[in-house]
Amino acid sequence: MCNLDKDITILAIESSCDETAASVVKNGREVISSVISTQVPIHTLYGGVVPEIASRKHIERINQVIEQALTEAHKTLDDMDAIAVTRGPGLVGALLVGVSVAKAISYAKNIPLVGVHHIEGHICANYIECPTLEPPFMCLVVSGGHTHLVNVSGYGEYEILGRTRDDAAGEAFDKIGRAIGLGYPGGPKIEAAAKEGNPNAIELPRAVVNDNVYDFSFSGLKSATLNYLNSVEMKGETVNVPDVAASFQKAVVDALVSHAMLGCEEYGAKKLAIAGGVASNETFRNAMRVEAEKRGIEFFCPSKILCTDNAAMIGCAGYYEYINGRRDGLDLDAIPYLKLGE
Ligand code: KG4
Ligand code: ZN
Repeated sequence: MCNLDKDITILAIESSCDETAASVVKNGREVISSVISTQVPIHTLYGGVVPEIASRKHIERINQVIEQALTEAHKTLDDMDAIAVTRGPGLVGALLVGVSVAKAISYAKNIPLVGVHHIEGHICANYIECPTLEPPFMCLVVSGGHTHLVNVSGYGEYEILGRTRDDAAGEAFDKIGRAIGLGYPGGPKIEAAAKEGNPNAIELPRAVVNDNVYDFSFSGLKSATLNYLNSVEMKGETVNVPDVAASFQKAVVDALVSHAMLGCEEYGAKKLAIAGGVASNETFRNAMRVEAEKRGIEFFCPSKILCTDNAAMIGCAGYYEYINGRRDGLDLDAIPYLKLGE
């Protein structure tokens, strides 16, 4: 651990997928500025994230986004104690933009560099608005690329109890969103459509993975939904989009909630948090809160803007890495399939 008598101010950079983001974070939990430039409208035109376009847009926006984050924080690079940057997992070309800029700043200004795991960032988003939250706690991370049930035993200490065997929850939302003509990103669009639908209209499966009860599987649910859509089309009938959206959303939420509760019960968890883009889904947040409260478990969820990709969460995770002594050199590389804890 380093000397904690003085404030630690970190410039954080995130560019793993389709948001170019920078943030200035003080002492891990105080977000002084957070700028997010989203590429979603561009990728929507193609029905999903186009990696080459994502990299190009990050290059176009990154310097401006960093400057804006510093300006809004009334700081300069000389005020920074460290530069934290997402080093993986994510799209390699997109990650490389953030990593290269962070290395350039670190070299030019002689500021320590700290590489951060994107999923650790999502988990740490919970610390930002809850000054009292400390490990140990259970965290369900549900994003476009990951569905992980994680036992957070300490700062930077993670035990993965379960993960998806196939599609991530967000990926399943995106695929079904496309299939019912809602476009990218499927998650928020399905959530909006589901508000008008009946969640019990269509019977859809909830998969159980036999050799690890904590693992998730969404491919069966995805196929069942696609088969249902095909059968309606074959009969020459019209698909009731709100009913499909509501039934699909309920099936995903049921699977997420039941796995999280099982983990909490088996591990005797007193606190439960959620993280990642899917955690911004209101039906999911409410269901988790209700089930946690029934069991006397304290429930945490970041505000929606801290659930989807942002750099404030990277600044928070970077702070804990920094005070634990992590320093990266100019050989820091972007790792697209980086595992949590590596
Ligand atoms: O964490 P995130 O911003 O990026 C990754 O690290 O993947 O998550 C993006 C994912 C997308 O799959 C998107 O459809 C999903 O989160 N998502 C949602 C909602 N908002 C975003 N899924 C369900 N309901 C939402 N409201
Ligand atoms: Zn993410």
